[in-house]
Amino acid sequence: NSFAVRRGKYFGTAGDWVYEDVMNCSWARIATDPSEFGVLTPGNSQKWDSTEATQGVFNFETADNITNWGLKYGKKIRGHTLVWHQQLPDWVTGGTWNATTLKAVLKNHVTTVATHFKGKIFHWDVVNEPFNDDGTFRNSIFYQILGESYIEIALRAAAAADPAAKLYINDYNVEGVNAKSTALLNLFKKLKACGVPVHGIGVQGHLISGQIPGDIEVNFNRIVAAGAEIYITELDIRMVVPPANQTAAYEQQAAEYAIVTKACKVTGRCIGITVWNFTDKNSWIPSVFAGQGDALPWDKNFQKKPAYYGIAKTL
Ligand code: XIL
Repeated sequence: NSFAVRRGKYFGTAGDWVYEDVMNCSWARIATDPSEFGVLTPGNSQKWDSTEATQGVFNFETADNITNWGLKYGKKIRGHTLVWHQQLPDWVTGGTWNATTLKAVLKNHVTTVATHFKGKIFHWDVVNEPFNDDGTFRNSIFYQILGESYIEIALRAAAAADPAAKLYINDYNVEGVNAKSTALLNLFKKLKACGVPVHGIGVQGHLISGQIPGDIEVNFNRIVAAGAEIYITELDIRMVVPPANQTAAYEQQAAEYAIVTKACKVTGRCIGITVWNFTDKNSWIPSVFAGQGDALPWDKNFQKKPAYYGIAKTL
């Protein structure tokens, strides 16, 4: 029943260097179990507000803790994330920028963070959530000032700093074929055609039980056909809690985890799947989606749910 790396596909978890968590023997026992997870993504500590809270002053203490801890237990590390519109310090969002000054800030941030972790990261989520659901570019501070060139700036800086890392553009609501996944795919094609270093499309996979797209494999096939690798970077399948019938709800969720897992399994260049933390005890869902939860393969008491076996029997 282990699946850290099965048939060449990685399986991973997100995790944060929260003292109580890492010292919590249940969390740490499962997270470090080499038969469960082969990959670790720092959930928050490599983000801009954590690494460069003050302009030009970099602090990697928390990010180093979780990254080195993961490496010590043999995990591959998915770096997350270099450019995103959230968890940005006020000096970035509230700054008075022109194209020259913001380009320099972006380049310096990406270069410094990617250089710091050079050699430790197997994938970087370089650009996170660049699109709106309708496929237009999200109007982040970077897009406002630099237009879509911010993406190229970030990718080139990341490639120069850490040439061995695979570089990803990552977004949510891009599991099936829709306007947003088409925009992300077209961005990948355009970057490739222009010689910009980019390797993969990250499909976050924040899904809702009962609303799993029916065309995930179709979408994955067109992504791979364009020369991209795929990683399912932040999988969770949430539901209204508590479910009216927990047994039925968990069985349905297990079948849905199996559907997503199968899509990766049958897609040649789908590198793997990472769940966004593994236990319902530490999921981000209840704090962001009021009244929802139970999204992960382990329950709040660190017991494996049907979802776990849905993945394990499929991978
Ligand atoms: C979430 C973290 O899990 C939370 O702890 C934090 O408060 C907010 O960010 N998409 C992403 C992740 O790319 O970085 C987000 O992580 C979840 C949505």
